[in-house]
Amino acid sequence: MSVPAIAITNLRFAWPGSPDLLAIDEFKLAAAESLFLAGASGSGKSTLLGLIAGITPANTGEISVLGEHMDPARAARRDAIRASQLGVIFQLFNLVPYLTPLENVLLPLRFSPERASRLRDAGLCPHQEAHRLLDVLGLDGDGLDRASTALSVGQQQRVAAARALLGRPGLVIADEPTSALDHDTRDAFLSLLTTECQASGAALLFVSHDRSLAARFDRSVELDVINKAGGSR
Ligand SMILES: Nc1ncnc2c1ncn2[C@@H]1O[C@H](COP(=O)(O)OP(=O)(O)OP(=O)(O)O)[C@@H](O)[C@H]1O
Ligand SMILES: [Mg+2]
Repeated sequence: MSVPAIAITNLRFAWPGSPDLLAIDEFKLAAAESLFLAGASGSGKSTLLGLIAGITPANTGEISVLGEHMDPARAARRDAIRASQLGVIFQLFNLVPYLTPLENVLLPLRFSPERASRLRDAGLCPHQEAHRLLDVLGLDGDGLDRASTALSVGQQQRVAAARALLGRPGLVIADEPTSALDHDTRDAFLSLLTTECQASGAALLFVSHDRSLAARFDRSVELDVINKAGGSR
């Protein structure tokens, strides 16, 4: 059997000075599976994604991403795993404002030789692949050479998605990336995101308040159902 995209065991997490926020005994996302994670505002969805991405070290328990342990004691190792294996679309996109959209999309290749070599192995040129992703996500040539701050919020979301997908990461995690899109644009964005993940064999963990999107994923989970600390807040 292939290695799961995410494996969590006995995770406990509290922000400093706050009560337990997350207590997850067991959680798995299979390789190439797409999962919709719902939960009320403040229930800890973004916190959980930050732990999975290795941005926040876990207090106790174990988190593995594609078989690699996100060791709380090894920040540089977590950064390297994130750069190589994860595509992250944050709630606030985190585009580098003074770089153009194209430069933002190409950025992960600077931090991860693995991403660059996966593209090479697939016979893809980074620039062409960046243009293809921006194109399928509905951003044509216009404005791609301006500062990213000159884009609308919806356009910034699509640049963030193209950046996450470039270099075929094994896992894409997305934090409410459709909240600023209108209904039709949101539907198109979601189709493209799931299609691109399927095509490259990436697992997808997608967080949103909007439960009407759940049917588009292999599986959906309520955070409160897997989070034993949920009732204590
Ligand atoms: N960096 C931080 N430092 C301290 N507390 C934090 C931090 N980030 C989040 N929290 C707290 O953790 C709790 C969960 O926040 P989180 O952002 O994970 O929720 P969420 O489910 O993503 O909410 P939303 O749906 O509004 O995005 C909140 O009480 C929040 O105040
Ligand atoms: Mg959040």
